[in-house]
Amino acid sequence: MPWRKPFRPPSGLSRAQLAQRAYEVWISEVMLQQTRVQVVVGYWTRWMARWPTIHDLARATEAEVLGVWQGLGYYSRARRVWEAARRVCAADVAGVLPGYVEGLMRVPGVGRYTAGAVAAIVFGVAAPMVDGNVLRVLSRQMGVFADVKGDRAVVGLLWEAAGELVRAVAADGEETDGVSDRPGQWGQALMELGSTVCTPKPNCAACPITATCRAYAEGLTLAEDRQSIA
Ligand code: ADE
Repeated sequence: MPWRKPFRPPSGLSRAQLAQRAYEVWISEVMLQQTRVQVVVGYWTRWMARWPTIHDLARATEAEVLGVWQGLGYYSRARRVWEAARRVCAADVAGVLPGYVEGLMRVPGVGRYTAGAVAAIVFGVAAPMVDGNVLRVLSRQMGVFADVKGDRAVVGLLWEAAGELVRAVAADGEETDGVSDRPGQWGQALMELGSTVCTPKPNCAACPITATCRAYAEGLTLAEDRQSIA
């Protein structure tokens, strides 16, 4: 994935380098919310060739942005990304996105998933990033046998659990200035586990965390099996 770069603590980067990392990861995460990685690689690469920095994007027209987004769907996302770029560049001459979840969530179109991803991957903050795949992984691990996407209380519980886990992961790791690569690595590893191994029909034989998995221990990894005992 071309947007993946080795983590460097923000204090060791120039403002321009930090702005660049945040911009690249932000665009990749917005695209990845609706589209498979293989397809996003092409769109992301074309996007970055057209608008290499957030300042270039801020100077684009709405029609140009929608043109490059063509085929990804959810055009309101493209519009909000463009709007956000203009706001961030107006507010910060260096064009750096905020480096913490609450600040990121004030940026147009940035919800808690994208905020968590950018905070953790770029800024090294112990923030959770929970997508549909992570909801499935955590619900199996914890034996939360409920409607993991449709039930707000369950989603809230799993977000809280992810937050506690990522804070434990960060506290356990080597840190520089209170930040580390671990939150970003851990969050992305969970997403990948959910998209490749812990899928709706999981490949438990290939899973590195069956030892701690409640659903695996109980033979209840499949929703159908749980329904039959309900
Ligand atoms: N899905 C969405 N964002 C991802 C990321 N950064 N790594 C792996 N899978 C993802």
